[in-house]
Amino acid sequence: MAQTIQGIRGMNDILPQEGARWQYFDAVVRDWLAAYGYNQIRTPIVEATPLFVRGVGEHTDIVEKEMYAFEDSLNGEQLVLRPEGTAGCVRACIQHGLLYNQTQRLWYTGPMFRHERPQKGRYRQFHQVGVEAFGFDGPDVDAEMIVMLADLWRRLGLTGLQLELNSLGDAPERAAHREALIAYLERHVDILDDDGKRRLYTNPLRVLDTKNPALQEMAEHAPKLADFLGEASRAHFDGLRALLDQAGIGYKLNDRLVRGLDYYNRSVFEWTTDKLGAQATVAAGGRYDGLVEQLGGKPCNAVGFAMGIERLILLLETQGVEMPRAAPDVYLVHSGEAASRTAFGLAGELRAAGLKVVLHAGGGSFKSQFKKADASGASFAVVIGDEEAAAGTVNVKRLTGAAAGEQQVVAQNALAAHLGAAA
Ligand code: HAM
Repeated sequence: MAQTIQGIRGMNDILPQEGARWQYFDAVVRDWLAAYGYNQIRTPIVEATPLFVRGVGEHTDIVEKEMYAFEDSLNGEQLVLRPEGTAGCVRACIQHGLLYNQTQRLWYTGPMFRHERPQKGRYRQFHQVGVEAFGFDGPDVDAEMIVMLADLWRRLGLTGLQLELNSLGDAPERAAHREALIAYLERHVDILDDDGKRRLYTNPLRVLDTKNPALQEMAEHAPKLADFLGEASRAHFDGLRALLDQAGIGYKLNDRLVRGLDYYNRSVFEWTTDKLGAQATVAAGGRYDGLVEQLGGKPCNAVGFAMGIERLILLLETQGVEMPRAAPDVYLVHSGEAASRTAFGLAGELRAAGLKVVLHAGGGSFKSQFKKADASGASFAVVIGDEEAAAGTVNVKRLTGAAAGEQQVVAQNALAAHLGAAA
C-alpha cells in the first residue's frame, strides 16, 4: 500500500460531524449581518506581499514572522496567503472606486493564514468573519459594532464574554507618547530582555505587552498614552463610552490593549472568554482612519473587527449550546428492480416539492436500510417493495416524535402532499 499523506500542521479538516455547528454558525451570522445592513465582499486568498508590509506594518509579528510569503515561480511576483482580511478589503475598495463620495458597510468570511505555533484555538489556517465600515467618523459606528457583537453572542446562545476597550489616539498623539516611552525604556534598558531590546525603537508599545514577570513593574509605570490624547480623540472615546453605557454594555478599560496590527487609531476593542485557555480573544478590532490613504486611496475613515470562527465554535461546544440537527425529512427505502426505479423518480418529485430526501443507495435488506434510515435522523421512512411499486403505493413510517412507529399506506401520486402536510 502507498504511504498515506497527512494534512499540514495547524491546518484542519472540518469533518462532517462538526459541519452542523459550522452551518448553524454561518446561518446565524448571515441573518445577523443582514439585520445591520452589511453587504458581502469576496476577495482573493492570495495578495501581493507589499499590501501587508505596508498595511499591517513592517515590524508586527504577523509580517516579521508569521506570513506564508512566496515567490510565484512562473512570473517572480512576491505573494502572500492573506494573514487577515482588512488590508485586502481596503485594497479592493480603492481599486474598484467603492469609497468615492459614498459610505460602505461590508463583511467577508474565509480562511486566513499565520505561521504561528499551533495549539487549542490557534491554527495556521483559521477562519474569520470580518466586518468593515468606511466613511463614518463618529463614535456611533464604533459603538454599533460593539453592540452588534453583544447581539451576536445572544443570538448564538453564548454567555460570559468580556469586553475590553482602549483608545490609541491619533498619529501625532501616539508619536509624542512614543517619544516619551522610548526615553523611559532607554532609562530601563539594562533590565529589558532580548525581545524588549529588539523592539525598543521599532515597536516600543509592544515592549509593554510583555509576559515577562521581571518587566511587569517597569511596564506598569511607563508613560500612559491616555495622558497624551488631545481634545478630539478624548471626545470620540467619551462618545463611544456614553453610547455603550446607554446600550447597557459593560466593559473594562485596558490601557495596555495595543493590538498586533499597526493600522489602528482611536477606539480598539477585544471580546474575550475565560473558557478557552490562552487563546481567549474571540473578536477584535477598532478604528483605522489612516489605512485607506496609506494604501493609496483618498483619506477615508474606517472601523471594523474580525472574529475567529474556530474559537467561537469551540466555545459553542464548551458551553453545550444545542444545535438544530440538519436531518433529512425522508429516507427512501427500496428493494427490487421496479421498486428502485420508482423510488428514483419519487425522490426527485419529493425534492421538487421542497422536502429533504436521502435515497438509499447500495442495496441491502430492508432491515439494514431501516437502520440507516434511523441513523440519518429522518422524520419518515418511505418504503417501496415490488408489491407497492405494482400497486402505485408506498408505505410511510414515522421515525421520530411521539407518533414514531406509526405506518400508513399512501398513494404514490399523493405522497408529496401527504408528507408536506405531516412534516
Ligand atoms: P486579529 O486580532 O489579528 O485582527 O484577528 C481577529 C480574530 O481572529 C482574533 O481575535 C481571533 O479570534 C482570530 N484569530 C487570529 N489568529 C488566529 C489563529 N492563529 N488561530 C485561530 N484564530 C485566530 C484582525 O485580523 C483584523 N483584521 C481585525 C479587524 C478588522 N480590524 C479592523 N477590521
